[in-house]
Amino acid sequence: MDSIRIQGGIALQGKVRVQGSKNASLPVLAATLLVGECSFIRNCPRIADVHAMVSLLKSLGCSVCWNKTGITVDSAQVRRGEMPKEAVKGMRSSLCLLGALIGRCSEVVMEHPGGCVIGERPIDLHLSALGQMGVEFEEKEGRLKAVSARLHGACICLPFPSVGATENVLLAGVMAEGDTVLEGAAREPEILTLCRFLQQCGAWIEGAGSSRLVIHGGRRLYGTDFTVPADRIVAGTYLFGCIGAGGSILLEQAPREEMETVLCAAEQMGGRVCVSKEGIYVQAPGRPLPIELATAPHPGFPTDLQSVVLAVEAKGEGCSRIQENIFENRFRVAQELQKMGARIERSGPRTVSVHGVESLCGRPVEARELRGGAALVVAGLMAEGETLVGGCQYIYRGYENIGRDFRELGARVASV
Ligand code: UD1
Repeated sequence: MDSIRIQGGIALQGKVRVQGSKNASLPVLAATLLVGECSFIRNCPRIADVHAMVSLLKSLGCSVCWNKTGITVDSAQVRRGEMPKEAVKGMRSSLCLLGALIGRCSEVVMEHPGGCVIGERPIDLHLSALGQMGVEFEEKEGRLKAVSARLHGACICLPFPSVGATENVLLAGVMAEGDTVLEGAAREPEILTLCRFLQQCGAWIEGAGSSRLVIHGGRRLYGTDFTVPADRIVAGTYLFGCIGAGGSILLEQAPREEMETVLCAAEQMGGRVCVSKEGIYVQAPGRPLPIELATAPHPGFPTDLQSVVLAVEAKGEGCSRIQENIFENRFRVAQELQKMGARIERSGPRTVSVHGVESLCGRPVEARELRGGAALVVAGLMAEGETLVGGCQYIYRGYENIGRDFRELGARVASV
């Protein structure tokens, strides 16, 4: 199931349930390490990154068990913080295990984590923040060793609201001695979810959801039963998919309160959006209208949905300008879209102009990273004829079954 075949040109109709959030469930699963007893995490998506996180937790000594509704993690037996090389490779989110393991074991050895090939992804902010909390780092033969004789609170100011660094400070901070004040914290909804999980376990955190977090460390944490919210990026992918392919759909349980900027962009692109108790209704009356878009930390437009908008605007009714301010390599998908007839050109170091064309042509294309891959599937829905998207293992890192979901919306999509 490495490729997805799409017969394009069919408007989407119907409803689809939005899976649980990848970017929320991974740090919550990492946080179960701090508890030292059983946690039950509901609504985790069945995606490759969650399976990889489960393997990592097992390799650290956790007993982990999936059932229909969620994952039970018992972290009572965790003793050492050494992560196996292969388990870390390619999974950027393994980085949040750093803060959790430092909190739990005082010593961690890990590979430099990878992730999507969308930019350099340095970890200096993580190291500097944890360093201020008493963690010492040493790099040996490509492996990172972190030791903390006494993890303590600190006043930390992040120069950029890094999501990963904020998660690591939270995870280490709840176990540290004394208070940690984090200024310039990321405000992504996934940070709020992690705070809620930790609070439910007994942690004392003030300012959840704001850019100033106060973490009162050292409280005993208890196992809990927690539900991960729906995935705002998956919901956004299907929403823009509808704007590109046309039609009218309902995104059941979509986390509307996390998607304000996305819904605003969808309306600018001509989508009619209606938010209700059931979820988000979207209707796309015609070709997408052009847009000026710039990605930014939350509450700005999410970098994870930029590629999908790029694909949709390839068939827009005019010229769009898209600026990527978070990850420098997120325009790589443009090359594949060009094979399908898209007219995209660089107009600055971080900006592309997209000259909408009347129709895209189905072609064999190759996914090279997660969100770019999803954007190619969306382009396939919009194109005339057949598109074959290869490299789908990247897409399965974040989407449970993008083919099934679009099929439920009436599209002709098959995994091959
Ligand atoms: C990022 C996104 C997040 C998204 C996730 C998965 C932002 C702000 N973050 O989180 O919304 O869900 O990818 O795709 O949109 N940086 C450094 N040094 C560091 C850490 C980060 O320079 O130590 C830079 C990165 O190169 C990047 C920016 O900060 O330009 C954002 O990084 P960060 O928020 O940490 O990335 P993720 O946690 O992966």
